[in-house]
Amino acid sequence: MKISIVGSGYVGTTVAACFADLGHDVTNVDIDETVVDAINDGAAPIHEPGLDELIADHGGDRLRATTDYGAVRDTDVTFLALPTPARDDGSIDLGIIEQGARSLGEALAEKNGDHLVVVKSTVVPGTTEDQIAQLLAEASGKDIDEQLHVAMNPEFLREGSAVADFRDPDKLVFGARTEFARDRLRAVFEPLVAESSAATVETGIREAEMIKYANNAFLATKVSLVNELGNVCKEYGVDAYEVAEAVGLDDRISERFLRSGVGWGGSCFPKDVAALVAAARDADYEPTLLEAAVEVNDKQPERMLELLEEHVDPAGERIAVLGLAFKPGTDDVRNSRAIPVVEGLQEHGADVVAYDPVATENMRERFPGIEYADSAGEALDGAGGALVVTDWDEFAALDGTFDAMADSVVVDGRRIVERRDGITYEGLTW
Ligand code: UGA
Repeated sequence: MKISIVGSGYVGTTVAACFADLGHDVTNVDIDETVVDAINDGAAPIHEPGLDELIADHGGDRLRATTDYGAVRDTDVTFLALPTPARDDGSIDLGIIEQGARSLGEALAEKNGDHLVVVKSTVVPGTTEDQIAQLLAEASGKDIDEQLHVAMNPEFLREGSAVADFRDPDKLVFGARTEFARDRLRAVFEPLVAESSAATVETGIREAEMIKYANNAFLATKVSLVNELGNVCKEYGVDAYEVAEAVGLDDRISERFLRSGVGWGGSCFPKDVAALVAAARDADYEPTLLEAAVEVNDKQPERMLELLEEHVDPAGERIAVLGLAFKPGTDDVRNSRAIPVVEGLQEHGADVVAYDPVATENMRERFPGIEYADSAGEALDGAGGALVVTDWDEFAALDGTFDAMADSVVVDGRRIVERRDGITYEGLTW
């Protein structure tokens, strides 16, 4: 099948490369020429494990990229994988995807034959049918559900394991309202369904939009709940990880996403929960539990600082922050819990020295004024306290490195450091 994908962010590029690998003929459309050239040269424009190999294999061949929207006319289906960034009130900004839909509609005006447009971006219920479909119809002059069909196919890929997640998904969600749209989606994913154990959910467009938000809101709330339980555990000297391990054996709960600590960050959970809260309020519904999940998440970095203060006064003290990425395996610092941790330390007048194996340059843009170390050892050398924010494997092996601290107070926000004699160790929820 001939597929076009508008947008070459981490979803668009990963999905394009994986579709090509499934045997489809794929064209990526992006306004950024550097990204387009990279893909055509067989080089991955973003870092995702396994993506380099796929783009090296198919880039410039079954996978091509272009800045020209006209390329979509030669394809059977177009996926819109453009960003929907957050506005200040948490609601999503549709500016980029609306512009993409207009350009796509204009290109499709000259297409003969039916076409399917699939929204992959995360959008609140109603957006595909009420806004994107309308823009496509206006710009193309075609009738929706006649020559032009719309569908919604949310994405559940995690950063750092997007290729593996694509190949072995728990579920595929097809939101459609015409048989044509459903059939074409089935045809796109048929090779993946044949080789994986994925469940396929066929549903309405609004339901598909909501499934994505519900999925992320559920997982984020699950982590906030385990963080809240963990905070209570800590007060009673109970190890929250032992509790979670037992609780997770109940298959109604499952053991996944039960790691308590400094909370959730990244480009998805914080943005999607905020957007769902904003959408609910917009409909005059106060989403109490989601608001509480955000509140618990916001407080976890503060709790780390409180634990530090039980042992050291951070004012004027050199304090090491280990881990800046929002999770291990990525250099992404968007909404990383390290941000409120560094801010809190600065408010207390601490002399912050930060270390991350890959995310330093990204964090430098956010905090140009703090010191960045080239190794954990360098960050810890002479520090009066250390806060561990990301569970990079290398932090588990630090052991004797903590001896170089002026005062070996370690507050572990991710349960990654080995507790041992000679360090004053504080786990966040254990
Ligand atoms: C998340 C979802 O897991 C994906 O299914 C979804 O496709 C993606 O958002 C998206 O909407 O694009 P991602 O943000 O890449 O993926 O990262 P996760 O692995 O889900 O981790 C999110 C945050 O939760 C991280 O800060 C992580 O440290 C934290 N977390 C996760 C915990 O604190 N405890 C856990 O047990 C699990």
